[in-house]
Amino acid sequence: MTGATPPHPTPSSRRGGQVEGARTAVQPAARGQGVAALLAEIADVGTDRFRGGYSRHGFDRAERELREWFAGQAAARGLAVRTDRNGNLWAWWGEPGPGAVATGSHLDSVPGGGAFDGPLGVASALAAVDTLRQRDFRPSRPVAVVVFAEEEGGRFGVPCLGSRLMTGAIDAGTARGLRDQDGTSLADAVRAAGMDPARLGRDDESLALLGSFVELHVEQGRQLDRRPERTPVALASSILAHGRWRLTFRGEGNHAGSTAVTERRDPMIPAATTVLAARRALAGTEARATVGRIVPKPGGTNVIASSVDMWLDARAVSTSDTRGLVGEIVAAAGEAAEAEGCAVEVREESFGDTVLFDPTLRDELADRLGGVPALPTGAGHDAGILAARVPTAMLFVRNPTGISHAPAEYAEPEDCEAGVAALARVLEHLAG
Ligand code: HGY
Ligand code: MN
Ligand code: MN
Repeated sequence: MTGATPPHPTPSSRRGGQVEGARTAVQPAARGQGVAALLAEIADVGTDRFRGGYSRHGFDRAERELREWFAGQAAARGLAVRTDRNGNLWAWWGEPGPGAVATGSHLDSVPGGGAFDGPLGVASALAAVDTLRQRDFRPSRPVAVVVFAEEEGGRFGVPCLGSRLMTGAIDAGTARGLRDQDGTSLADAVRAAGMDPARLGRDDESLALLGSFVELHVEQGRQLDRRPERTPVALASSILAHGRWRLTFRGEGNHAGSTAVTERRDPMIPAATTVLAARRALAGTEARATVGRIVPKPGGTNVIASSVDMWLDARAVSTSDTRGLVGEIVAAAGEAAEAEGCAVEVREESFGDTVLFDPTLRDELADRLGGVPALPTGAGHDAGILAARVPTAMLFVRNPTGISHAPAEYAEPEDCEAGVAALARVLEHLAG
């Protein structure tokens, strides 16, 4: 099934007949509504008419509208909201203190992304708090619902930027200098959002409060949908090692009509060769190598490009396999560049080792949930970054399309509710 409609009102059925483009802060849903209702509240924030799906990026207008929505939802539940020095939002149930149980995800998306990647984890965390309160559960330790900043790296190019800054997995100075496609730096973007860029950086004080972190996420793949036992929820066992590399090919800009092929140094040729080399390098492996973004300069139809930027996303079960794969692709890029009289520059923009989630916590939660499976994933998450510093687990909710990072990403309302019930049980276990 592809192109499934997510359980949300379409933008045309938005509340109050709001005119397209008219932006008002999205009003918090009444407390205790299910997770699909919470997601419906934000269904028309950051819709991307050009790409389809959603484009909500770190500290841009859509993501800031979602932050306001989250703050409203938290306030409606009496949760005290704090923004940490890296722009991550923390909504506290109880005074912040050591041993806290945190749960949440992110609200930003990839360009043209789906409705669930990120927001499902945040909405499920709010709904799980509602569920526990309806049971008169009183946590014996602080509970926090967290929204991490710029998880997709859709604006500043580094995934899990908020959690990487918090854990020190990225140098604050490097982060401050990251620029979006308009040239706006992260420092300027956070300043415009009312934060002090000088405070970006490792936050051991906030990390010291965390006893555990659990992220619920829509599954990105169809492992659950293909399992005979049909459980709608699973735990995560591991995340592939993965990184991003920027390759810049430089040649000679010229006229498409007056330049004979023998006189060309066209950087688009080695770029195209490298895309095919990336696919060839995967043969016989379980690795992944993707080029989803190529930007020729100047980008004219009748112009031979002077340079081409392309970004390689590569992933494999181990760091050495990933680096070996990238080495093979970069070698092919160098040969292709030389053959066309071009130069190529390769810059690593991010890298993360394979993540193995805490097996004790994983098995404890699997037991608590009646023996749900534990699945590996190729998708990165803030939980994968936190796992280096805090006992961390992930819950996956079945996605019948298996598609993610595209509008067809989907989860059935009843499976979303099963995810909330599982998360509530996990929080009750950890914070009871
Ligand atoms: O790219 C990823 O795997 C994640 O969605 N940031
Ligand atoms: Mn994602
Ligand atoms: Mn995600």
